[in-house]
Amino acid sequence: MRDLSALLAQMTIEEKVGQLMLLSVNFFGTDTELTGPAQEWGLSPEELSRVGGCLGGKDADTVRKIQEKHLASDRNKIPLMFMNDVIHGFRTIYPINLGLSCSFDPELVGECTRMSAKEAAAGGVHLSFAPMIDLARDARWGRVMESSGEDKILASALGAAQVKAYQGEDLTSSEHIAACVKHFAAYGAGESGRDYNTVDMSERTLREFYLPAYKACIDAGVKMLMTAFNSLNGLPATVNPLLMKQILREEWGYDGVVVSDWGAIYELTVHGVAGDLRDAARLAFDNGCHIDMCSKAYYQNLSRLVREGVIPESDLDDAVMKILTLKDELGLFENPYHGADVEKGYLSPEHRAIARRAATESAVLLKNDGTLPFSKDVRRVAIVGPFADDHGIIGVWASKGKKEESVTVAEGVRALLPNAEIVTARGCGNTHTDTDESGFAEAIELARGADAVIICVGEHAHYGGEANSRTSLDLPGVQAEFVKAITAVNGNSAVLLFNTRPLSLVNIYDASPAILDMFFPGTEGGNAAAELLFGEANPSGKLSMSFPKSVGQCPIYYNRMLSGRPKVSLPDEEYQAFSNGYIDCGSRPLFFFGEGLSYTSFEYKSMELDSHELDASGKIRVSVTVKNTGDRAGKEVVQLYIRDIVSSTIRPVQELFDFCKISLEAGEEKTVVFEITEPRLRFWDAQCRHISEPGEFSLFVGYADHPIISDSFRLVEGK
Ligand code: BGC
Repeated sequence: MRDLSALLAQMTIEEKVGQLMLLSVNFFGTDTELTGPAQEWGLSPEELSRVGGCLGGKDADTVRKIQEKHLASDRNKIPLMFMNDVIHGFRTIYPINLGLSCSFDPELVGECTRMSAKEAAAGGVHLSFAPMIDLARDARWGRVMESSGEDKILASALGAAQVKAYQGEDLTSSEHIAACVKHFAAYGAGESGRDYNTVDMSERTLREFYLPAYKACIDAGVKMLMTAFNSLNGLPATVNPLLMKQILREEWGYDGVVVSDWGAIYELTVHGVAGDLRDAARLAFDNGCHIDMCSKAYYQNLSRLVREGVIPESDLDDAVMKILTLKDELGLFENPYHGADVEKGYLSPEHRAIARRAATESAVLLKNDGTLPFSKDVRRVAIVGPFADDHGIIGVWASKGKKEESVTVAEGVRALLPNAEIVTARGCGNTHTDTDESGFAEAIELARGADAVIICVGEHAHYGGEANSRTSLDLPGVQAEFVKAITAVNGNSAVLLFNTRPLSLVNIYDASPAILDMFFPGTEGGNAAAELLFGEANPSGKLSMSFPKSVGQCPIYYNRMLSGRPKVSLPDEEYQAFSNGYIDCGSRPLFFFGEGLSYTSFEYKSMELDSHELDASGKIRVSVTVKNTGDRAGKEVVQLYIRDIVSSTIRPVQELFDFCKISLEAGEEKTVVFEITEPRLRFWDAQCRHISEPGEFSLFVGYADHPIISDSFRLVEGK
C-alpha cells in the first residue's frame, strides 16, 4: 500500500493529466527512441513518461521492458497500467461470447474467464476491456458476437460471473486482473443494426431492458466502466448526463474508474456537440470520464482548463486518485509487472480442457431428424464446406490466440476416429462475393461415397465484430446451394454452422437433416464438434438470441410487448388482415430464444408453487421437476418465464425470470427450486418509476413462446 495522498500532493497538473491518458502500445518503445505515433503527436520523452495507461502489449517480455523504461523516466515512479481487450480468451481461446452465452452456465463462463485472467496476467495485462454486456436485439449488428444476446437476466448473470472471475478476491494476485464493463450504454441498439449508430429510445426501455446488465457488473464490483460510441436520445453516451451523472453516479453510486471508448472524446467534435477538442475535453471530464482512450483531447487541453479555472483542480485530483487507487489495488506499486511471466500456463492441458468443454456446451442443436449423432462405426467420413479444415474457427478478436494452435473440424474428427477414412473438400467460399460453384463437384463426389457427411458452412469470421454490420442474414455466397447439393446426394448429412450472429436459415432448413450451431468455437472447436457429432458429447446449448426467418424481422426478440392487434388463431405463416404480422413472412423467428435440442429427451413432470399468493415481504418457491427420459446422460437448461397479466404499463408477453442448468443421467430426475419475491417483480412504468403492482402473474417453464407447464400467482398488497 502506498500513501496515495502524499503521491498526489507531489504531482504537477501535467503529471496528473498524464495519468488520465491511455495510449496504444505503439507509443511506447522499449529503447530510448520515441516511436512513430509519439513523434507524430509531438510528445516529448518527458510527456510520454507521465502517461498513465498503455493499451495492448505484445508479450510479457515487452511489457516488462516498457514498464522498466517507464519507471526509470517517470519521476513519480507511477507504474503504467496495461489494459487490453481479452474478449474470448487470451492464448487459449474459448467460443465467442454469443456462443458461450448459449451455455446458460455462469459457472462455466467463470471458469473460462479465470483461465483467461491467468493467461492475460502472465502476458502482462492488468485490466481487460471485458465484459461487454450490451443487450443485442438486432442480428445485423456485427458486435452481437461479443454480447450475451438479447436477455437482461442472462446477460446480467454472465456479466457478473465474468467480473468476479477476472478480479477474484485479491487483485494483487498474479492470476487476476481488473475488469471493465462496456459499453455504457445501449450500444447494441443502434438504428438499422449499424455500428456506432444513433440510439433513440424511451428512458423506460433503457432502464427496463438495457441497463440491468451494466448494473449487475457494478454490483459485482467491476473496477472500470467504458462509455459507448453511440449517442442516446440526442447526446453522445460519453457526455450524456442522464447516463453518466444521474444513473451511474447518483442512482447506482458507482465510484470506480470511467474510460472513454477509443477516440470517443475526440468524436464529440464529429458528433457536432463540441466545437473543438478543448470543448470536448471539458464536456467529457465534466461528465465524469476519467481516462481519454487514444485521443488528444485531455493531453492537449486538460491542464489549461484547470489552470484557467474551468475545471477545479480538486476534480482533477479526484479523477487521478481513482486511477492511482486502482493501480494500488492491483499491487502495481509493489510489483509493477503484476503477473507478467513469459507464456506461463498458456494452452496447458487444463486450459485446453476448459476450452473444449466450453465449445461443447455452447453448441446449439437446432434441428435433428435423427441423423445425429452419427455412428462411430463409419468407415468413410466426408467433411465438406469452407470450414471443413479451417483454423479460422478460432474466431476473430482472439487476443494472442494463434490460428495454427486451434483444432479444425477435420483434425478433430481424425483424432476421434483414427480408423476411419476422412476426406475433405472446401466446395465453396464463405463471403457474399464467393459465387464460384466450381468446387461443388468434388465435394459432391466425396459426399456420395461417404457413410457420414459433415457440411461446414457459415459466415467468414470477419463478418462479425466492430464495424461489421450486415444487411443480409443469409449464409453468404452460394453456401445454401452447396448444402442442398450435398444433402441431395447423401441424406446422412449434418450441417455444422460457424457464425458470428444469428442467421436466417430458412433456405437450408428443409434440406438439412440436422443443424448443429458451433458459432466460432475457439481453440478446441474441432474436437468439440467431433465429440458432439459422433455422440461422445450431448448438445445442451440454448439460443441466447432469436434466429429470425428473415432479416426484415429485425429487431426481433422474445420479450416483445403485446400489440393491440396480435395475430391470434392462424398458423404463423398465414397472413391475417389487420394484425401486426407481415404479408410475406411469419412474425415469429425460425428458432426461439432458449431453444436447443439434445440427443436425449426431458420430461417436465411438474411445477409446484408453495403458495399462490405473494406479499411484499414473502416469497414463493417454485419447484420444477425434470426427468431425463432418454437413454443417455444430458444437460437441460430449466427456464422459468413470467408475465404480468394486467398492469398500468404494457409489459412483455413473457420474460425470463430465472434459469438453472442441470445434468441428468439417463432415467434420472431432479427438482430445481426458483424463488419469487416482490422486488423481482418491479418494472419501470410509463412515468419511469420502479414499482410492482398487485395482481396476477402467470408463469411457465419451457422456452420462449413454448410453455410446457404453466401456473399463476397473485401479488397482494403488503400485510
Ligand atoms: C472498441 C472497444 C475496445 C477498444 C479498445 C474500441 O474500438 O469499441 O470495445 O475495448 O476499441 O481496443
